[in-house]
Amino acid sequence: MGLTAFGRERIATLPTPLHDLANLSRELGGPRIVIKRDDLTGLAFGGNKTRKLEYLLADAQVQSATHLITAGGIQSNHVRQTAAAARLGGMQAALVLTEDNPEPDVQGNYLLDLMLDADCHIIPSSADSTAKMEELAADLRDAGHVPYVIPVGGSSPVGALGYVSAMLELNNQLWEQGIHASRLYHAAGSGGTQAGVVLGSALYGGGYDVIGVAVSGTADDKIARCAELTAETAALLGTENPPGADDVSVDDTQVGEGYGIPTEATLEAMKTLALTEGIFLDPVYTGKAFAALLADVRSGAIGNDETVVFLHTGGTPALFAKRAELAPII
Ligand SMILES: Cc1ncc(COP(=O)(O)O)c(C=O)c1O
Repeated sequence: MGLTAFGRERIATLPTPLHDLANLSRELGGPRIVIKRDDLTGLAFGGNKTRKLEYLLADAQVQSATHLITAGGIQSNHVRQTAAAARLGGMQAALVLTEDNPEPDVQGNYLLDLMLDADCHIIPSSADSTAKMEELAADLRDAGHVPYVIPVGGSSPVGALGYVSAMLELNNQLWEQGIHASRLYHAAGSGGTQAGVVLGSALYGGGYDVIGVAVSGTADDKIARCAELTAETAALLGTENPPGADDVSVDDTQVGEGYGIPTEATLEAMKTLALTEGIFLDPVYTGKAFAALLADVRSGAIGNDETVVFLHTGGTPALFAKRAELAPII
């Protein structure tokens, strides 16, 4: 079964631009670097989750869902885009937000969730967000509604289809612009983006190595999760001989103290891209991914004759909630 057999709600502004970072390449005295602007997918300040939500929303509609339920941290980009997607689908959003401060700052993504009138449930970070989502779903069913539960990060096989189709879009742009890329870097969290990217570039002949840059955890865990999700997504599509764990690369050198904690290199990467190209990264995901790319340019691991793609997955609304962390670069 091909990708076109799956329902898709066109809620993203596509294709997203693919363009050179010429000032940055010049400043680094390094390779050609092109950026795929999935921070500009359009919906509610954009980001990678909107591509996943195109397929998830369509699946929810087939099931006549009245509510989308999902979970994430208080500054989750996925949660914010899901709350907006629910609005486009004529549904309500119920959100489980993990946060230890019971009265968090109304800032960044959380502020946008509230503007979208999402039903927000704040639980401590030690609590089980999946169980809380199931509890909300049961309450909604009892009240005669039809909830559709989206796992953290939208990382289900249906969600990963968004990045399978993104690779078709990217590979067409590379071909049209005559670009022969050798590598693609992107931030890896719950694994759905990388599963779609790995499967899509295998299906549509990307010809470049995909490097998922871990924003938390270890490379081994991310590889195992990505391979599992790649296999499930391939099964959904009916793809034979899908890529396995040996075909998945994860760089975990930028994790630092963990999820949501930027390192010095994260901040330096954010500042460098802002000053050379006027493009903002975020301190949780894309700053770490871009730091990995810069480290590989500076160490010579990426040769000057190569062309590298950076997939910008968004996350910029979180900037406004992270003033303290950003203090060293403002
Ligand atoms: C800005 C940004 N980049 C990257 C990711 C990682 O995507 P995935 O969870 O599919 O690995 C996320 C996930 O929330 C994100 O918000």
